[in-house]
Amino acid sequence: MRRATITGWGKYLPSNVMTNKDLEKIVDTTDEWIQKRTGIKKRRIADEDTATSDLAIEASKNALEKANLDPEELDLIIVSTVTPDMAFPATACIVQDKIGASNAAAFDLEAGCSGFVYGLSVGSQFIESGLYDNVLIIGAETLSKITDWEDRNTCVLFGDGAGAAVLQATDKGGFLAFDLGSDGSGADALYMEAGGSAKPASLETVKNKQHYIRMEGNPVFKFAVKTMKKASLDVLDKASLTTDDINLLIPHQANTRIIKSARRRLKLDEDEVYVNLPELGNTSSASVAIAMAEARENGKINNGDNVLLVAFGAGLTWAAAAIEWNENI
Ligand code: ACO
Repeated sequence: MRRATITGWGKYLPSNVMTNKDLEKIVDTTDEWIQKRTGIKKRRIADEDTATSDLAIEASKNALEKANLDPEELDLIIVSTVTPDMAFPATACIVQDKIGASNAAAFDLEAGCSGFVYGLSVGSQFIESGLYDNVLIIGAETLSKITDWEDRNTCVLFGDGAGAAVLQATDKGGFLAFDLGSDGSGADALYMEAGGSAKPASLETVKNKQHYIRMEGNPVFKFAVKTMKKASLDVLDKASLTTDDINLLIPHQANTRIIKSARRRLKLDEDEVYVNLPELGNTSSASVAIAMAEARENGKINNGDNVLLVAFGAGLTWAAAAIEWNENI
């Protein structure tokens, strides 16, 4: 059976580090509160002149190099982001041009922090159907650009970065199953109010700070705890696997308490779950992409391993993927 598999992976992080101590100087918070409630110690912040596509391009180059693929060989590029360079054109088109992927179709996909896993599922369909052979999926964010640095409820949580994966066809292993879902009734728990057709940008929206992330932390937390377990079990079921078969869980990096709860509910050991949240914070749709690239880089993923990806995010959305890792196509 023709399936999609990951043959290249890459990440890119801005060099500027912002610690919890730095945040103490900006808002009424403490390093202790942030670490205890979220697990986050620091995050990377892009400078003023860096757009999301800049991070996406560097992550893509790294992934293409690992896959030993020239940009011209790409058939499709999907960028998942909630912080596109502009409303249009798609950030994927900017990436397509700048990396020289002259034969690739390109579009953006938005599913909050679940976007990268949604993107993997879409890219996989193009490969499984035989329409395309080489697909690049990117999760990239500059959340710092839509963060209200006076809102302690949100500004301590987010960071910038990008991750990318090259998908190619295999007849052994690869993506075994996906589980995607949404609950739009929770849209008002996590959103950016203005700048779209419902509330176009105006002097008033800027004055009212409606171009920033707004979040009700508690409902998102409860949703995350519930869906991380359900989506994980559902995708494992579709792949005819159980939690005992999992070598590594790569969860969306939002809060260590959410990750811990998912780990316990799935009865996994600590070393079976990849966590980089303390170093990078929540990078939204880049989070699973970066974590996966790091885990592979650090030898936490090897050929033949069963890897489970699971994410939740604005929408509200969720997405999970079960992979039998196989880079040898
Ligand atoms: N420093 C100090 N105190 C703070 C801070 C802060 N940075 N932020 C909030 N507080 C205060 C609150 O004001 C509140 O004070 P009060 O009791 O006097 O009213 C108190 O701390 C407790 O606030 P809660 O919101 O109840 O804290 P909670 O334990 O729920 O943690 C958090 C908040 C970390 C936001 C948690 O709810 C969470 O992680 N939720 C999930 C968020 C998430 O994952 N978002 C990303 C989704 S993915 C995407 O698509 C981007």
